[in-house]
Amino acid sequence: MAANQSFDPRDFRQALGAFATGVTIVTARAADGLPVGITANSFNSVSLDPPMVLWSLAKNARSLPVFAAADHWNVHVLANDQDALSNRFAHAGEDKFGALALDAGVSDAPLIPGCSARFQCRAAFQYEGGDHVIFVGEVVEYDRTPRPPLLYVTGSYALAARKAAAVASVATECEQPDAIYSENLIGYLLGRAHYQFVAGFRPTLDANALSDADFFVLSLLSVRQPLSGAEIAAHIAYTGADIGAVALESLRARGLLEHVPLSGEWRLGAKGRDAILHVLAAAKAVEADAFEKLDPMEVVGLRNLLKRLIAVTDPGLPKLWRGTPA
Ligand SMILES: Cc1cc2nc3c(=O)[nH]c(=O)nc-3n(C[C@H](O)[C@H](O)[C@H](O)COP(=O)(O)O)c2cc1C
Repeated sequence: MAANQSFDPRDFRQALGAFATGVTIVTARAADGLPVGITANSFNSVSLDPPMVLWSLAKNARSLPVFAAADHWNVHVLANDQDALSNRFAHAGEDKFGALALDAGVSDAPLIPGCSARFQCRAAFQYEGGDHVIFVGEVVEYDRTPRPPLLYVTGSYALAARKAAAVASVATECEQPDAIYSENLIGYLLGRAHYQFVAGFRPTLDANALSDADFFVLSLLSVRQPLSGAEIAAHIAYTGADIGAVALESLRARGLLEHVPLSGEWRLGAKGRDAILHVLAAAKAVEADAFEKLDPMEVVGLRNLLKRLIAVTDPGLPKLWRGTPA
């Protein structure tokens, strides 16, 4: 264990960073009417009855005199999509409030919308805390939303994920003791999730006589069109589906695709637009069913992890979403 005088500040900070927190913005209003606000993860609950919370502010913060004199301040527990706002309030000198729309609260302290929870506080106590001042406030009003919170751990923003119940880490049914196929194999988990998911809207694919490859082409063109045959093939190469000129021609013969005059590129035909609309609506319904059984925090975490996995395994596909006109 390191003795006090030998603490390396960086290392000490990193050790503290192992403690995962939420992220808040604390706001107050100066006597001259100017709003102040800082990003703070030192927020914590103190007492339920009376309801009290605390947070600490660095003594060198420019906003210290305002918070020290304020009779009210508001704590905003940020939602998972408010990391840009957190960054904005973590940098001194920026016009932090800019054109930010504010809600009306019990005091004149700024009240920011779109958060996971908000605590409007009457300033109660201030304590010395080394290079920080500890502020304790009595909560006079609060509100909350189902928006999953933004977290901060080991120096980075993070998302909360519910921990699954313990599962076996080795194969439970596998005959061969050396086999590496277990229920924790990501390929198995992804594959099973994918097939179970697609099975939910397979009847709609069948009703429209669409193969998986047809579906890939139509859904691609529903996002971006027109595209050349080569572009279509490049975009969906990752699926392993063989999309040759013959396949595209047969979709045209069925009225699902049409040629753009002169350029020869492909776009959806009237029947194709109608079919993909039905299939995507069915897929959306399967998604809604599944998400009803997960909580919003898990949905945000799942999307984030799948995007990360897609990024780290991307063989260099053409970008479909970035820069796509809305
Ligand atoms: C995730 C995160 C958490 C932070 N937590 C605190 C905190 O609890 N207390 C603090 O004084 N500063 C904290 N900071 C730094 C302040 O947000 C930053 O210094 C602030 O912009 C100071 O503003 P001011 O000098 O304009 O008053 C944190 C920054 C980040 C990114």
